[in-house]
Amino acid sequence: MAFNFQYYSPTKVIFGKGTEAEIGNLVLEQGAKKVLIHYGGKSALKSGLIDRVKTSLDQSGIAHVELGGVVPNPHIEKVYEGIELCKKENVDFILAVGGGSVIDSSKAIAYGLAYNGDVWELFSKEKQVKATGCYPVGVILTISAAGSETSNSCVITKASTGCKRSYNDNIARPKFAVMNPELTMTLPDYQTQSGCTDIMMHTMERYFTNGGNMELTDSLAEALLRTVIKNAKILHSNPDNYDARAEIMWAGSLAHNDLTGCGNDGGDFASHMLEHEMGGMFDVTHGAGLAAIWPSWARYVYKDCLPRFVRYAKNVMEIHVSESDSDEAIALKGIEAMEDFYHSIGMPVNFKELGIAPTDAQIEEMASSCYNACGGPKGSAKLLDLDDMIQIYKMANVD
Ligand code: NZQ
Ligand code: ZN
Repeated sequence: MAFNFQYYSPTKVIFGKGTEAEIGNLVLEQGAKKVLIHYGGKSALKSGLIDRVKTSLDQSGIAHVELGGVVPNPHIEKVYEGIELCKKENVDFILAVGGGSVIDSSKAIAYGLAYNGDVWELFSKEKQVKATGCYPVGVILTISAAGSETSNSCVITKASTGCKRSYNDNIARPKFAVMNPELTMTLPDYQTQSGCTDIMMHTMERYFTNGGNMELTDSLAEALLRTVIKNAKILHSNPDNYDARAEIMWAGSLAHNDLTGCGNDGGDFASHMLEHEMGGMFDVTHGAGLAAIWPSWARYVYKDCLPRFVRYAKNVMEIHVSESDSDEAIALKGIEAMEDFYHSIGMPVNFKELGIAPTDAQIEEMASSCYNACGGPKGSAKLLDLDDMIQIYKMANVD
């Protein structure tokens, strides 16, 4: 039975070739006077994108300052720097030029500008405080992955402690997202494929549930997942394929703007929570980290969510089923097919392939931190307690 739901996706999408040239008008439309152009390492500078953005803003008469240097798994320390700069320069609009890390850093700056106190309090959960406002954020997307361009989520790491935490609020959904698939053609394949993995996971987290399913939601989810599988493979051998880039980019936004979760119980999201700890402790690429933990999670929980795993095997992985196959056998074939897919696009399926080797003590630390971040047991496919989390990490930590 479908559960009640609200669907709120207010982000204006400007999709296609050359769309970044419209940035001046888009910011003007928002009534902004002075913009912070926020970006990451060197990629947006090297491609000339930042220069094109400045030219467009200049043509629209919009003042701007810039702050680069956002790292993957973005740091709260950079957020503090952004808040100070925006206050000093009277910035009233944050423009993220980059991927999930830059967008999340921008959202955190936007929260911080409206918050009377240390913005990390929103993320650490220690004080259980809520955002008191959020400055407007716009996005020029350069990597299809996190879906932050349309999501209500923001994920930040405190570098000094390796603590990675998320904060979700609809007020942070970007005002607009400029999506030109061509901008993603400079990505290394590992980043493209990590992005594809993350996109799939955002929908899979909503798909593997034990409550509130709708046929339309399932069909949308399955179509999205099949589309990403097909086009991730195309990009692995032909990274300049514009149509494949376009399919992946649009899938990335729809996978995480809640469309593929309408009517369910809010999703599972245990794999994401488990991965955030790996990102905080080992600074791994988010999507690759998800690929490395998912098979262990799936094998641990599938019996508690069998109908969904069977459906996934048939409708997404399109595995051949014989009459003698039990549901459990079909579910396991689906999980194996998923591992084969990850390998086919160069993604890891365990910690060793990811390049990390946590000790038992580190596994217990990650599990305990994950359990705290979840505020207790987590999951819908199977509700995981602390010991379950430890077992899943251990399963992924094969020799
Ligand atoms: O810093 P630069 O030089 O730009 O390099 C980046 C970075 O090294 C590079 N890159 C981006 N666009 C490029 C490019 N390189 C060449 N050409 C381009 N066009 O890619 C690397 C990764 O960038 P990043 O922004 O970190 O990637 P992604 O979009 O995967 O974001 C990951 C972050 O988002 C969080 C993750 O936890 C992680 O911190 N997430 C955010 C979510 C949200 N807000 O809704 C949901 C996700 O589940 C996720 O947790
Ligand atoms: Zn993700």
